[in-house]
Amino acid sequence: MKKNLFLLFVLLSAAVGVRAEKVTIAAKNIAIVLDVENGRQPQYLYFGTRLSAADEAALQLPQGGRMDAYPAYGLNTPAEAALAMRHADGNLSTALVATGVSRQGNVTTIHLEDPVYATQVDLKYKAYADVDMIEMWTEITNREKSAVTLTQFASAMLPIRRGNVWLSHLYGSWANEGRLAEEELLPGQKIIKNKDGVRNSHTDHAEVMFSLDGKGRENAGDVIGAALCYSGNYKLKVETDDTDYHYFFAGINEENSEYHLKRGETFRTPVLALTFSREGLSGASRNFHKWGRTYQLAHGNKPRKILLNSWEGVYFDINEAGMDQMMADIAGMGGELFVMDDGWFGEKYPRKNDHTSLGDWQVDRQKLPHGIEGLIADAGKHGISFGIWIEPEMTNRISELYEKHPDWIIKAPRRDAVQGRGGTQLVLDLSNPKVQDFAFGIVDGLMTRYPGIDYIKWDANMAVMNHGSQYLPMQDQSHLYIAYHEGFRKLCDRIRSKYPDLTIQACASGGGRANWGVLPWFDEFWVSDNTDALQRVYMQWGTSYFFPAIAMASHISAVPNHTVFRTTSLKYRIDVAMSGRLGMEIQPKNMTDAEKALCRQAITEYKQIRPVVQFGNIYRLQSPYDRQGVASLMYVDDARSKAVFYWWKTDNFANQHLPRIKMAGLQANRNYRVHELNRIDNKPLDFERKSFSGAYLMEHGLEIPYTHSVDHAERNEWSSRVLFLEAQ
Ligand code: DGJ
Repeated sequence: MKKNLFLLFVLLSAAVGVRAEKVTIAAKNIAIVLDVENGRQPQYLYFGTRLSAADEAALQLPQGGRMDAYPAYGLNTPAEAALAMRHADGNLSTALVATGVSRQGNVTTIHLEDPVYATQVDLKYKAYADVDMIEMWTEITNREKSAVTLTQFASAMLPIRRGNVWLSHLYGSWANEGRLAEEELLPGQKIIKNKDGVRNSHTDHAEVMFSLDGKGRENAGDVIGAALCYSGNYKLKVETDDTDYHYFFAGINEENSEYHLKRGETFRTPVLALTFSREGLSGASRNFHKWGRTYQLAHGNKPRKILLNSWEGVYFDINEAGMDQMMADIAGMGGELFVMDDGWFGEKYPRKNDHTSLGDWQVDRQKLPHGIEGLIADAGKHGISFGIWIEPEMTNRISELYEKHPDWIIKAPRRDAVQGRGGTQLVLDLSNPKVQDFAFGIVDGLMTRYPGIDYIKWDANMAVMNHGSQYLPMQDQSHLYIAYHEGFRKLCDRIRSKYPDLTIQACASGGGRANWGVLPWFDEFWVSDNTDALQRVYMQWGTSYFFPAIAMASHISAVPNHTVFRTTSLKYRIDVAMSGRLGMEIQPKNMTDAEKALCRQAITEYKQIRPVVQFGNIYRLQSPYDRQGVASLMYVDDARSKAVFYWWKTDNFANQHLPRIKMAGLQANRNYRVHELNRIDNKPLDFERKSFSGAYLMEHGLEIPYTHSVDHAERNEWSSRVLFLEAQ
C-alpha cells in the first residue's frame, strides 16, 4: 500500500511538475516534437527526421496553421475536430488542456483534461528505437457523474505543411484490390472511409502516404506514411482550408457509431502508425515492412511454407481421394503445406455450395470418411503439413446453428435479416460474448481434436448489411460496429494465447482484411480472389506500399484465369507469384509433366531466395501504372549482399521500346553476380553468371531481352524475368 502511494506520488509529481517543455518522441531516425504547457492544448512543433540538440532548441513555432495536437470540438467550431462529445449535462463543447507528461518505457503520455468537465484524454505515443515508426493513439476517460456520448473520436491528428503535397492511397473492389491512386491535395476535404462492418480493405484502404515535394517518386523525395491499425470501419480525412496546412485526421468511422461512455470507462482508440522517409515512397514502404515484420505481423520473423490451396482446383468438390491426390502432387513439386478450402463440413446440411452450412463445423463424412485425422495422416505420409478453411464469424439461414440460435445473428430490430452470399449468408453478432465463445470453440475444437493442423485459412464473406444487434440494448445499438470489432479482438486474443504457433491467414472474400490492425493475430492475408498474373502485378504493387511480401499470399493458378479469363504463360504466373509468399491455387491433376517440372524448379529456386523476398527491403523501380510496358521491383537483404530483381512485361507490341531499369538498394562498390531463376530460354542471358558493380547496376542497369528465346511452338505474348544477385 505504502509502495503504491509512493509510486502515485512520484507519478503525480512528474506529471504536475511540467510547466512548459518540448516533448520529443523519437524513433530510430524520425521524431515528433510537441510544445506542452500545462493549462494549454499541446502544440505540434515538428515532425520529420531526428533533430540535433541545437536545432531542437532553436525550433521555430510553426505559423499559419492550427497546431493543436488533439483539437476538440466546441470553442473553435468552424475548425475540424478530433474529438467531439456530449457531456453528461448535454454540453456539446469540450476544451482540452495539458496537465502533464509521463513516460513509461518507450511510451510517452501527454495528459489532457477539460478544465470544467471531468473528461480526461491521454495522448499516447510509442516510439521504436530500432525502426522508423511512431504509434499514436488516444485514451478518453469519463469521470463525470454519468455517461457521456462520444460523437467523434479520432486516433490522432497531424498537420502537414502545404506545398505541392500528393496523396497516395489504395482503393478497389472484390477481385481488384489494392489499386493505387495518386492525387494532389487541393482545397476541400478528402475522405477515405470504410463502412463494411466486417472487412475493411476491399475498397479504400486505411493506409496513406503523403509525398511532400510533388507527385510521389519511388526512390526519392520526402514522404509521410500513415496506417490506421484497425479491423473495423474507419475514416481518414484530410482537410485543406485557407491556412498553410493540411490537417490529417484518422480514426474509427464515427458514422452511426456514437459511443456512450459510462462513468469511469475508458475508450481506447486504435493506433495510428506514422512514419517518415527521405527515400521516397519505397523508403516509407520499407519502414512499414520492417516495423510490421518486427512488431505487428504474427511470426514476422518466420519463413512461410510453400502451399497448395484447394479452392480454385476443386471449389466445393472436396473428397478424400481428391485431397490425397492434391497433397501428393504438391509434395511432388516440393511444396510444404496443403490447405483444404471450403466445402468439407456440414452433417444435416452438407456444404455443397455457398447456400448452406456455415456454423456447422462437423466433418462431412460422406466426403471425408476418414475425417480430418485421415487427411492429416495422409499429409504426414507425403511429408507435408495440413491446413484447413473456416469462416467463424458467419452462418447461413440453412444451418443447424441458425436453427438453434437465430438470436446470434446481426439484424435490425423488427426487420428481417438481410442475407448475403448464396442468398442465405448471415453475420454472427460478435458483440455477444456467447458468439465469441462459439467462434473460439470452432478453432479450439479443431485444434483439440486435430492437433496436427498447422494452418488455418480464416475467411469472412459478408458485410454487416443491416444495422442491429439482438444482444446490445436498444439505447446502445450505435455501438454495434465498434462492439463487433472489440469482440473480434477478444476472440483473436484468446485464440492466439492458446495457439501461439498456429499459422493463420486472414482471408475476407479475397483481400478484405489487409490491415495492420488485423495482422498481429494473422500471419498473412489473401491478396485477392483474382489470381490473374497481370492484374496481380498491379494489385501486389499497390499492396506492397504498406505490406511486406511475407504477408502477401500469392498463388500460381490455372489458365484461362477463373476471374478474368486471361491466358498468361506459366512462367509469367510463376514469376509474379514468386514476388510474394509463394503458393499454388490450381488442380495439379490438370497440369502436364512439363508444367509440373517448371513449378518444381520454381519451388526449389524460391526456397533459395525465400529469405530475401520474405525478409528483404523493397525497392519499387518501374510502376505498372506508368504504362511503360514493363513493371519492375526488387528486394535486397539487410546486408545488401543478396537481391532478387523482378521484371514483368505488362504490354506486348511489335517494335516496342521499353525502358532499361536501373536497380536500387545495392552497394555501389560491391560486385554482384547475376543468375536468372525460372529460366525457360534455350540459351542463357548474355549476363548470366557475370558480375557487375552495384554502381553499374544502379546507374545503368541491365538490358533485358523483350521476349523469350524458346522454340517456335512455345512462343507466347508473355515475358518476365527473375534475377538473383549475389555479392562476390
Ligand atoms: C472466398 C475466398 O477469398 C476464397 O479464397 C475461398 O476461400 C472462398 N471464399 C471459399 O468460399
